[in-house]
Amino acid sequence: MAFDIDMIKAVYAQLGERVEAARKVVGRPLTLSEKILYAHLYDGKATQAYDRGVSYVDFAPDRVAMQDATAQMALLQFMSAGKPKVAVPSTVHCDHLIQAEVGAEADLKKAINSNKEVYDFLSSVSNKYGLGFWKPGAGIIHQVVLENYAFPGGMMIGTDSHTPNAGGLGMIAIGVGGADAVDVMAGMAWELKFPKLIGVHLTGKLSGWASAKDVILKVAGILTVKGGTGAIVEYFGEGANNLSCTGKGTICNMGAEIGATTSIFGYDEKMSAYLRSTDRADVAELADGIAQHLRPDNEVLANPKDYYDQLIEINLSELEPHVNGPFTPDAAWPLSEFAAAVKEHGWPQELEVGLIGSCTNSSYEDITRAASVAEQAVQKKLKVKSEFTITPGSEQVRFTTDRDGLLDTFDKMGGVVLANACGPCIGQWARHTDDPTRKNSIITSFNRNFAKRNDGNPNTHAFVASPEIVTAFAIAGDLTFNPMKDKLTNNEGEEVMLDEPKGVELPASGFAVEDAGYQSPAEDGSHVEVVVSPESDRLQLLTPFKPWEGTDLKGLRLLIKAKGKCTTDHISMAGPWLRYRGHLDNISNNLLIGAINAYNGKANQVKNVLTGEVGEVPATARAYKASGIGTVVVGDENYGEGSSREHAAMEPRHLGVRAILVKSFARIHETNLKKQGMLALTFADPNDYDKVQEDDAIDIVGLDAFAPGQPLTIVLHHSDGSSDEFKANHTYNEGQIGWFRAGSALNLIAQQQKE
Ligand code: F3S
Repeated sequence: MAFDIDMIKAVYAQLGERVEAARKVVGRPLTLSEKILYAHLYDGKATQAYDRGVSYVDFAPDRVAMQDATAQMALLQFMSAGKPKVAVPSTVHCDHLIQAEVGAEADLKKAINSNKEVYDFLSSVSNKYGLGFWKPGAGIIHQVVLENYAFPGGMMIGTDSHTPNAGGLGMIAIGVGGADAVDVMAGMAWELKFPKLIGVHLTGKLSGWASAKDVILKVAGILTVKGGTGAIVEYFGEGANNLSCTGKGTICNMGAEIGATTSIFGYDEKMSAYLRSTDRADVAELADGIAQHLRPDNEVLANPKDYYDQLIEINLSELEPHVNGPFTPDAAWPLSEFAAAVKEHGWPQELEVGLIGSCTNSSYEDITRAASVAEQAVQKKLKVKSEFTITPGSEQVRFTTDRDGLLDTFDKMGGVVLANACGPCIGQWARHTDDPTRKNSIITSFNRNFAKRNDGNPNTHAFVASPEIVTAFAIAGDLTFNPMKDKLTNNEGEEVMLDEPKGVELPASGFAVEDAGYQSPAEDGSHVEVVVSPESDRLQLLTPFKPWEGTDLKGLRLLIKAKGKCTTDHISMAGPWLRYRGHLDNISNNLLIGAINAYNGKANQVKNVLTGEVGEVPATARAYKASGIGTVVVGDENYGEGSSREHAAMEPRHLGVRAILVKSFARIHETNLKKQGMLALTFADPNDYDKVQEDDAIDIVGLDAFAPGQPLTIVLHHSDGSSDEFKANHTYNEGQIGWFRAGSALNLIAQQQKE
């Protein structure tokens, strides 16, 4: 759908030369990930080798994709950059705000009504600034990207953690926060720590009940939820060539569950076939022409141990189906051991709901394999014991599987087709239950199964498996069922077994769709008006932050001295606050409400030194702001760890905080603070943290000479008349000091845009 073939041609035109330059500076053969990363350096051809897991490198991704929850603030920010158009092809996907309740049609209607202002905003801003807009019901971001935009050798970022799904088509695709998307859309560099590389050598061929999903379920068991952190997982080997392109997508998608930066497969016949089948024969031909650059070098394939930081071997011919869970995706159980585990741990044996589909597992192959199992329920006269839902990943998949009679098969077994959206996968599920706190079991073909993720019930034991295993379990209604060896008793009292699933990788008569739900942007968006109601409590246009006043900051007050862990969740809580993601003033009412005040050990209780009263953090910040007094937040180690949520940096800025002074920062949060024009400072001597007192007036001195590597001075004027003075370090470079002076990175871009 309006994919940018010229952009792909441009990337391919320089790929060979850039790979060659990288090979020279690195001085050895290259893995696939290295080829793509070095080919996407912001400054062009490689001139130096980077240390994996150490060097911070500026990249220039080819694309940006955003889902509707994260796109709101990203686009509001982009608007303040003053650019007429996004710098790279970008898309918005309305998939996260649709609640599953009764079925696709009714649920979609309801969502369109209740989220109208958000959809209108996203649609108009996309139209104006040149972004492709995928309407509610069009599909889930990652499936739509795979079907339309992913291409071998490309690099993209997406504001959703399962963006790596596009690795199934040979793309380096990385999940990021909204602030990163803004950078790339505004034409700035995008920074990433050069990842480490984990190689997974696949041999053999899947058969029977085993599917691509089981590869990643097994890998999750091996690497655990942290094992992929800071690394790209690169799959290769003859086994990889035997996996369908969409199966590869499933594996890459769930790489997020092991914390991997992304996952990727090299270009092969299966990818070529998928590109052709999804109306992109031109991309396949271009890729065929440079195929050697879209795979690891032969020397790497011959001696992988020498080139990857870690190597895992999996023989697909021996791979058993897996069921992972409950509560964590790395608790991996081979099917043959699962029934015993259920009994041993006392997990609820009765299965209440089976859910298939989602961005992870709703390919044509997945649906045909699951349908081949579902069909048997009818043929073999089996009563289906659990509730069963199907979430197609896109309208194209829904339309095609409907055309081919597959959805009808699910209907006959009692399945309910939900909207082409995230739904139960993201907790947007009005589950029908008589007791929303009951201990119970569900099984999904999704990717995450943390407590409360699907239905908000902490006692729901959620397991993850392939769609065909989920379907078999839903028929049996029992978690101890093993379709490979157990019999079921049918309506006529006969004992029957389920046959192995059969799948079709790509539809014989091609994919089809009547209305894909795509809106292309206006050719000239300059006259398009962006729709935001001033009365809205969910959306608010941003007012640029004020530039630095040109003087040292004197007489600041302490908003909070936080003790212990202070993650982005403590700074800007999620949950119900997600509703206000597009409204900076409203969401700022959650500022630091989770942080623990070092003086009283309590959350959300801080002293306003002007009145002596103790109040909530946001209200206290607003009181200082109203009095024209800037504030400082003091924190402990690793301040701002967690997500890359930019709200955690925008909210304090909005409520008048001028500096965050901590023992150490989580790096992404530190950068986000810099982007918003804040001072992100660290105690040169961490013991100085103890010198900060509740009633202090605080000066930040040396800003007129603010320069890279030069510490600033902090002066604390204590209420007893004494004072303390110490140094605060920072990591600002020249460019980032420019952000501080301009009031924010976007202010600086807007200034430059005018010049
Ligand atoms: Fe949506 Fe779940 Fe995928 S939330 S993007 S369907 S992981």
